[in-house]
Amino acid sequence: MRPRFNLMTPVDARRGNASEGTDWLHCTRTQALLGRLDAEIDRAVTAQDAQLRVMALHVVRRGGKRLRPALLMLCGSLGPCPDGPLLKAAAALELIHVASLYHDDIMDRAPVRRGGPSTQARWGDGPATFAGAYLFARACTLWADLGGLTNRLASEASVDLCRGQLGELEHAFDLDTPEQRHLEILTLKTGSLFSLPCRIGAALAGLDAEAASSLQIYGDELGRAFQLADDLLDLTGEVETIGKLASKDLREGIYSLPVLRALRNGGADSARLRDLLTLETLEDNEVGEAVAIVRASGAVESVRDQARRGAQAAGAAIAQLPDGPAKDSLRALAALAVERTH
Ligand code: FPP
Ligand code: MG
Repeated sequence: MRPRFNLMTPVDARRGNASEGTDWLHCTRTQALLGRLDAEIDRAVTAQDAQLRVMALHVVRRGGKRLRPALLMLCGSLGPCPDGPLLKAAAALELIHVASLYHDDIMDRAPVRRGGPSTQARWGDGPATFAGAYLFARACTLWADLGGLTNRLASEASVDLCRGQLGELEHAFDLDTPEQRHLEILTLKTGSLFSLPCRIGAALAGLDAEAASSLQIYGDELGRAFQLADDLLDLTGEVETIGKLASKDLREGIYSLPVLRALRNGGADSARLRDLLTLETLEDNEVGEAVAIVRASGAVESVRDQARRGAQAAGAAIAQLPDGPAKDSLRALAALAVERTH
């Protein structure tokens, strides 16, 4: 089926892996800035060691959705803000995000990222670890250039990112993780890098405290909704469309909200699911059976509804902000983040 929406940015389009336009992005300034992001990242990722640069840019070069930079540019365009700091902060955001993916892929033993071999699949855990650390360090240089508040916000978000990832580890193979705790982990793990661009964009645009707080709520809600949708794709998607191995989380003992919900519904199927997930190792057919139980339980639909409510809450949070293409794009992004197919 043809995807209803496309999240790919003009950067992806230039690289030839986008299948459609960017109809959600109504802000021409953000479109133009996204077109300059690669050059900004290239400037930031200077390394005397050519091999380090190749590893650092291995996944960056595949483009991705560039949602976090786009969010920053949109929020920064809600007030007067020159291009330079927006581009610098956007590059730093993308570098931190990719750094966290390098480390996440090592922890998950994920073979595929953004439609190609992950960094550790290509070079091994050690090189991928320091390539991720290097990207993070390069981002720190950019934050330092941008000064006090931005630097502090970025450090706080990075701490939350780590706390979210730790929470996920603590609950690995935990069939009884409370939903509230699970959502808290999603807020830390994903909401942190969605609300960070909103907060920095608001600061760079000189917005008042009320507008900044609305954007922060928008970012938190969007981040959670986005992650719920991502976790649904892990259960329902194919590697060709989502650019990473499907059902990977289940194999690694990382149970998403639909799985936790299906485990809790009390029927014979949920008992069978529990038995499957407590097996020492899961064969392909057993993963298939577990996914089928989750899908038949109605949990996929109920989590999709929850993600949609989150996206609506994100849209509602910014209702009072000044109308214009930046706000229109933020609202469109909230809506499509939960309907995407990749
Ligand atoms: C991807 O989520 C991973 C994250 C959102 C956070 C990863 C964070 C860390 C590894 C700790 C912090 C690291 C740094 C460098 C600051 P996912 O696993 O749900 O998504 P996926 O299916 O795309 O892997
Ligand atoms: Mg992962």
